[in-house]
Amino acid sequence: MQYLEESKIFKNEEILSPEYLPEMLPHREQQIKLLANNLLPASKGRKPQNTFIHGAPGIGKTACTKYVFREFESYSERVKTIYLNCWDYRSSHAILTKIVLDCGGFVPRRGTSKDEILEKFLEIARTLNKGFVICLDEVDKLIPEGQDALYDLLRMNQYLKNPFGIVFISNNPYVFAGVDGRIRSSLAIEEIGFNTYNLSEMVGILDERAKQAFFKVEKGVVLLAANRAIKKGGDVRVGLECLLRAGRVAEAENANEVKVKYVRKVLRGVKEVKPQILKERINNTEKVILDILEERKRLTSNELYQACKKKVSEISDRTIRNYLRELAKIGLIKVRRVRGIRGFSRIISKV
Ligand SMILES: Nc1ncnc2c1ncn2[C@@H]1O[C@H](COP(=O)(O)OP(=O)(O)OP(=O)(O)O)[C@@H](O)[C@H]1O
Ligand SMILES: [Mg+2]
Repeated sequence: MQYLEESKIFKNEEILSPEYLPEMLPHREQQIKLLANNLLPASKGRKPQNTFIHGAPGIGKTACTKYVFREFESYSERVKTIYLNCWDYRSSHAILTKIVLDCGGFVPRRGTSKDEILEKFLEIARTLNKGFVICLDEVDKLIPEGQDALYDLLRMNQYLKNPFGIVFISNNPYVFAGVDGRIRSSLAIEEIGFNTYNLSEMVGILDERAKQAFFKVEKGVVLLAANRAIKKGGDVRVGLECLLRAGRVAEAENANEVKVKYVRKVLRGVKEVKPQILKERINNTEKVILDILEERKRLTSNELYQACKKKVSEISDRTIRNYLRELAKIGLIKVRRVRGIRGFSRIISKV
């Protein structure tokens, strides 16, 4: 039999995972209250207020929404919450399927049309007698290609007697500026802007996580991690990663506490987290484009098309152009228009 050796450092390593949803979210009381108030009517049979949450990466937008959803699930029998990330669900069909599955319904893997799935949802809704609140996280992924999904969801109240509300989340406060007029007119959203944390707030947040994750932490550890997080745009995940890595070094060194010198050691290796998350989610062709730009730094769009076609068979300029637009939108590349001898051309580089 194999024994897992008890850690002298980690009480609970899981607490430092970015996916972990804490019991409390300090410094977000106000935003949580606003969101909960917007959704509250759903628990009383009335239509909730559609809400748009925006702000920089890693400042608690997803966490606060999941927190509020968890509260509704625990304390209100009359609300069903459904969370989804639009990177994973990009069409009406996919989103409606997810909603039906989360409500306990069944959708065959193949051959069910969008209208049939919608019909299924309406049927479930009639029997459940609950209000629905759907979170579309990273909603920019639906715009422009997935706009039909927005349109379908926003019209749900026309078919449904049950209350139905949507929480949108994005890093981009202007994400809806480019949507069709027919969608914009039915959006009716209230916005909740999330500000970035200051250093003392960041220290408080990380201190709480560190207390739960480690047995013993030297003074100054949390401050150093918090400082790094602030320097990297205020993303709490950067601070959490500093703590996690420092904890691992402490373990490797067989120390009995997490020390400042371990944080110093790992600090340089902890970069912005969001670009890494996005890079994992992009498709293979988009990865090829990033690799080309990594190698050649700056290219005109034509040079990039040629380089890309050498590596990916049967790809059109138009498809590449769409990928470039996506990559620019999520901030992984920069596209600049410059005036040349033969009119304008575009220069593409990595961010
Ligand atoms: N006030 C807080 N208290 C405790 N933990 C927090 C707080 N704010 C953020 N966090 C933690 O920081 C991490 C990142 O938060 P979250 O995933 O909500 O960021 P986000 O704003 O949704 O970022 P993105 O825009 O990249 O999706 C999570 O582990 C979350 O628990
Ligand atoms: Mg998020």
